[in-house]
Amino acid sequence: MLVDGVHRRTIWTEPDDPGTVHLIDQRALPFSFETVRVTSATQMAATISDMVVRGAGLIGVAAAYGMALAARSAADDRGDAATTLQAAAARLEASRPTAVNLTWAVDRMLRTLDGIDPGDLVATADAETEAIVAEDVAACQAIGRHGLPLIEEIHECTGRPVNVMTHCNAGWLAFVDHGSATAPIYTAHDAGIPVHVWVDETRPRNQGARLTAWELGQHGVPHSVVVDNAGGHLMQHGLVDLVLVGSDRTTATGDVANKIGTYLKALAAHDNDVPFHVALPSSSIDWSARAGRREIVIEERDPTEVTHIDGVVETGSGPAVPAQVRLVPEGTIAVNHGFDVTPARLVTGLVTERGRCPADESGLLGLYPEHRRG
Ligand code: MRU
Repeated sequence: MLVDGVHRRTIWTEPDDPGTVHLIDQRALPFSFETVRVTSATQMAATISDMVVRGAGLIGVAAAYGMALAARSAADDRGDAATTLQAAAARLEASRPTAVNLTWAVDRMLRTLDGIDPGDLVATADAETEAIVAEDVAACQAIGRHGLPLIEEIHECTGRPVNVMTHCNAGWLAFVDHGSATAPIYTAHDAGIPVHVWVDETRPRNQGARLTAWELGQHGVPHSVVVDNAGGHLMQHGLVDLVLVGSDRTTATGDVANKIGTYLKALAAHDNDVPFHVALPSSSIDWSARAGRREIVIEERDPTEVTHIDGVVETGSGPAVPAQVRLVPEGTIAVNHGFDVTPARLVTGLVTERGRCPADESGLLGLYPEHRRG
């Protein structure tokens, strides 16, 4: 997608130095555009846990690159390659628990590298990582195509701009390119269908206000940031035509784990007959989980994300200065659950790279018959 008119991806390597992975530092956005370099699996695990990179698809891809870096260490030290790879896998998998893309990518890399001759480890790891990257990009593009009719039909019916509400950042910054929830929005916008996006600010880290607003702005998509609590009010007043969110882990039965606050949006949408769709690549489906609320591990993050907020202070004439401020009485205890689970019954439909389906087991198996058991 575009940054100052130039096409960028969130993660990449340069052809002459495949052992250095470059990433957009999402902690700095939207105030400055910075990149970081990562040269080891341990460093990659830290960039994921510190949320230098975040978003289900991207942390999966970052973990694959992390395994490719581990393959370099395993090939170099001529020790027990399997032990080196297993240790890197464990470190990467522990970096963030909720998004299933992380374990999906690490397990895929481990399977691919299992039993490979040390002399072929690096080339095999690089090829598999490139395949994961290409699949992520293709899946998001396909989600855009399959999700487009949702927006198109509303526009044909009303003849006015389509108001889409989204939560958190399920945009291109959360993947390699295009995004999941934003892909149909970008596709509609590029096709000339007028779209306006209600961007939930998404406390505590404000991925909506900081990241979604930034990337929609870079692409020229009209949008307004609203506080997380505004959704119900906007829906009651007919100001939301469609809710479109991403997913960090979706069960085989269609329950959706996503950024904390998504469930409340789904409840409000249900009460107001607003369609609530979830866009996700199949790498975000956990085929082994059936009861989302009981089975999905919800990441609990540092309480200071709730008690404090990061921003910039505008100084008037000079450049804005980064600052963190405390929001609560000193010493206040806070709790910070990162995600919640929206039950399938509140989800109007899923948009995947293979098409749209109801949020239930037969809908998902209809699109992914290879996951049928027996
Ligand atoms: O904690 P984050 O920022 O990694 O949260 C993940 C997300 O970006 C959202 O939950 C998103 O809607 C789904 S990931 C495409």
